[in-house]
Amino acid sequence: GTRQIIGLFGFGTVGKGLYHVLGSSPTTKATIKTICIKNPDKERDINTNLLTTNAEDILNDPEINLVVELIDSATDAYHIVKAALLKGKSVVSGNKTMLAHHLEELIQIQQTTGAALLYDASACGSIPVIRNLEEYYDNDLLLSIQGILNGSTNYILSRIFQHGDSYDVALKQAQDLGFAESNPTFDVDGFDALYKLIILAVHGFGTYVHPKEAFHCGISKLNDHDIQYAREKGKKIKLVANLSKLDNGRFTLYVMPRLVNPDEYIYNVEEEYNGVVIEGAFYEKQFMFGKGAGGFPTGSAVLSDITARYHDYRYEYKKQRYFEPLTYTNKVIVEV
Ligand code: HSE
Repeated sequence: GTRQIIGLFGFGTVGKGLYHVLGSSPTTKATIKTICIKNPDKERDINTNLLTTNAEDILNDPEINLVVELIDSATDAYHIVKAALLKGKSVVSGNKTMLAHHLEELIQIQQTTGAALLYDASACGSIPVIRNLEEYYDNDLLLSIQGILNGSTNYILSRIFQHGDSYDVALKQAQDLGFAESNPTFDVDGFDALYKLIILAVHGFGTYVHPKEAFHCGISKLNDHDIQYAREKGKKIKLVANLSKLDNGRFTLYVMPRLVNPDEYIYNVEEEYNGVVIEGAFYEKQFMFGKGAGGFPTGSAVLSDITARYHDYRYEYKKQRYFEPLTYTNKVIVEV
């Protein structure tokens, strides 16, 4: 492999997490050369020689062969990632909002320039769910993907159910712990989980669905009666993302809170953990579980992608079904 000389965009929760995780793994064949930040006046506990506020310092540096994009703004991220790929630089991104809206175009750019885009950190933090969908599972035999894909809402619901916290206090805690998005509406109204599900659909089923075509509903409208009802029934309420195959090549894709029974794998997924149940034609159900948010878990997923690039790994978008135009039969059906 080739040593990865990294230009990092963003030094927030995940950027700092990556910096620490990379520093704790001296055998990783990667070095952060430059970090592009927005606000140079913030106190930062790193060598200031690494810092720049000019994106061109990374994009035009011929020595930098990997751009790692960990910023908040989806619009800025889109421009950075696109520019890097067009210059032939490979990219690791954790930006699910940006990816869910622009994957179709970014995949095409990768195919033409030969640069690679990896983003395992964009869904389910430390759980290698995208890599597994891409590598292990067969599109035709996969039946459904169902799971808790948002750590903040799961943390909030957990605190309410287990500790009797109020919604507002639990949300504040999720923010303080670095799980929530800078605008927590993304979490509590189900956007974040939907964006992650869209990314999983691309790798599991080979089909891209634009976010505006899919139904999503979050947890902000749940009330005390809903919580009480679930408790009385011996169930929990969780925000569950669903992707299931129907007959005739159709599938549904949506995010909704629902009652979860004690015999379901996801029943015991608490706090900021995520859990994904994958169902296939010949193996029934499998369960992947792990930390879904936070700087170190997500930084670890970024590190894994960096190492994957050292080994020249790229997503092949199995069977290229992605590039088929959406037809009526594989359009999203909302099933409520
Ligand atoms: N806000 C996200 C969550 C962060 O709570 O899951 C991880 O993507």
